[in-house]
Amino acid sequence: MNETALTNGCLKEMKAHFGADRKRIDHALKVLDYARAIQAVEGGDTRVVTAAAILHDVGIPASEAKYGSIDGPYQEEEGPPIAREILKRVGADDAVTDHVCDIIADHHSAKFMDTLEFRILWDADWLVNIPNWYRDADEGKIRAVVRKVFKTGRGRAMAREIFLGERG
Ligand SMILES: [Fe+2]
Repeated sequence: MNETALTNGCLKEMKAHFGADRKRIDHALKVLDYARAIQAVEGGDTRVVTAAAILHDVGIPASEAKYGSIDGPYQEEEGPPIAREILKRVGADDAVTDHVCDIIADHHSAKFMDTLEFRILWDADWLVNIPNWYRDADEGKIRAVVRKVFKTGRGRAMAREIFLGERG
């Protein structure tokens, strides 16, 4: 299926899934923006990156309901079957669906995935999460995190620009 239909279908489903939880919707949209910016430089399959960015956190409500926790392992377990149903409803190709679900299953631990599309989603999610997770961190700490976590050149360069005011 074409990319625009896939993107619009995923956006609509994601918004319906999170409902009144505006924070989750905004998070997914921010991750999508960063993922697109990284992909513009790094390449990769646009459909996989777009769908993964929009749907990566769909396991959160089920994790909260079942375990009272949104810890990574719960989300990684709950997210993929939900994403698979959404992708089926919007008519995504099987290969795209499988890749997106694999990304979601590993998006908090990076234990088994290392595709370019996975690395782009990983970096985009970190770009959005660093201000929340390291709110009170000093510059040295931020610098260490930026050096350690990013998996693409463009993702790390964007982190340096955004959090450390460095260019180039
Ligand atoms: Fe996220």
